Amino acid sequence: MARDNYSLAACALIAALLSSDAAHADASQIARGKYLAQLGGCTDCHTPGYFSGKPDSRYLGGSDVGFKAPDGSVVVGPNLTPDLQTGLGGWTAEDIAKALRTGIRPDGRVLSGIMPWPAYANLTPQDMDALIAFLKSLRPVKNKVPGPFSASEAPGLFVMQLTPPAKTSVAR
Ligand code: HEC
Repeated sequence: MARDNYSLAACALIAALLSSDAAHADASQIARGKYLAQLGGCTDCHTPGYFSGKPDSRYLGGSDVGFKAPDGSVVVGPNLTPDLQTGLGGWTAEDIAKALRTGIRPDGRVLSGIMPWPAYANLTPQDMDALIAFLKSLRPVKNKVPGPFSASEAPGLFVMQLTPPAKTSVAR
């Protein structure tokens, strides 16, 4: 009987150690993901107010600034928080990893090159998991960004224009 109690206690101790270890790994994984998101500039292009110097509390909740590509199309950095309707709530970890590695969204559309996915394609599997764990840990923000807009549409928001280098004439 005493022996059984000992083994029960040992099992409980091992279970407690394992779960505290897992919780610890989770928190450090999320911290690593946050570090990568800041370093990767995700915050800049995906947080409202960032480009006017006043990022608001809707952290990573979708930009309020459009980027106009040389072909005239305009895209806005979408909401990366786990909101189901307006963010990445309906995306699996695999969906997010695929978009970051290949630029392909779950609906098949290839993301504009303004989203620098080729720069993120070589994230190690551990860093990719950490970045995604961090995104999934965010407070969901309800904010649907407009667009994407074709060259013939008027976006009606502040737009940064990217001009092809051959067309610019800068005095040297
Ligand atoms: C230079 C600006 C910029 C940076 C930096 C940037 N993004 Fe983006 N991102 C965009 C834009 C703009 C789009 C929308 C492109 C489109 O619709 O074709 C986008 C799209 C996405 C999408 C697809 C979401 C959707 O709903 O279609 C994901 C996921 C994403 N970015 C994640 C990230 C992550 C994670 C980082 C940082 C590691 C990051 N982005 C850094 C501008 C940026």
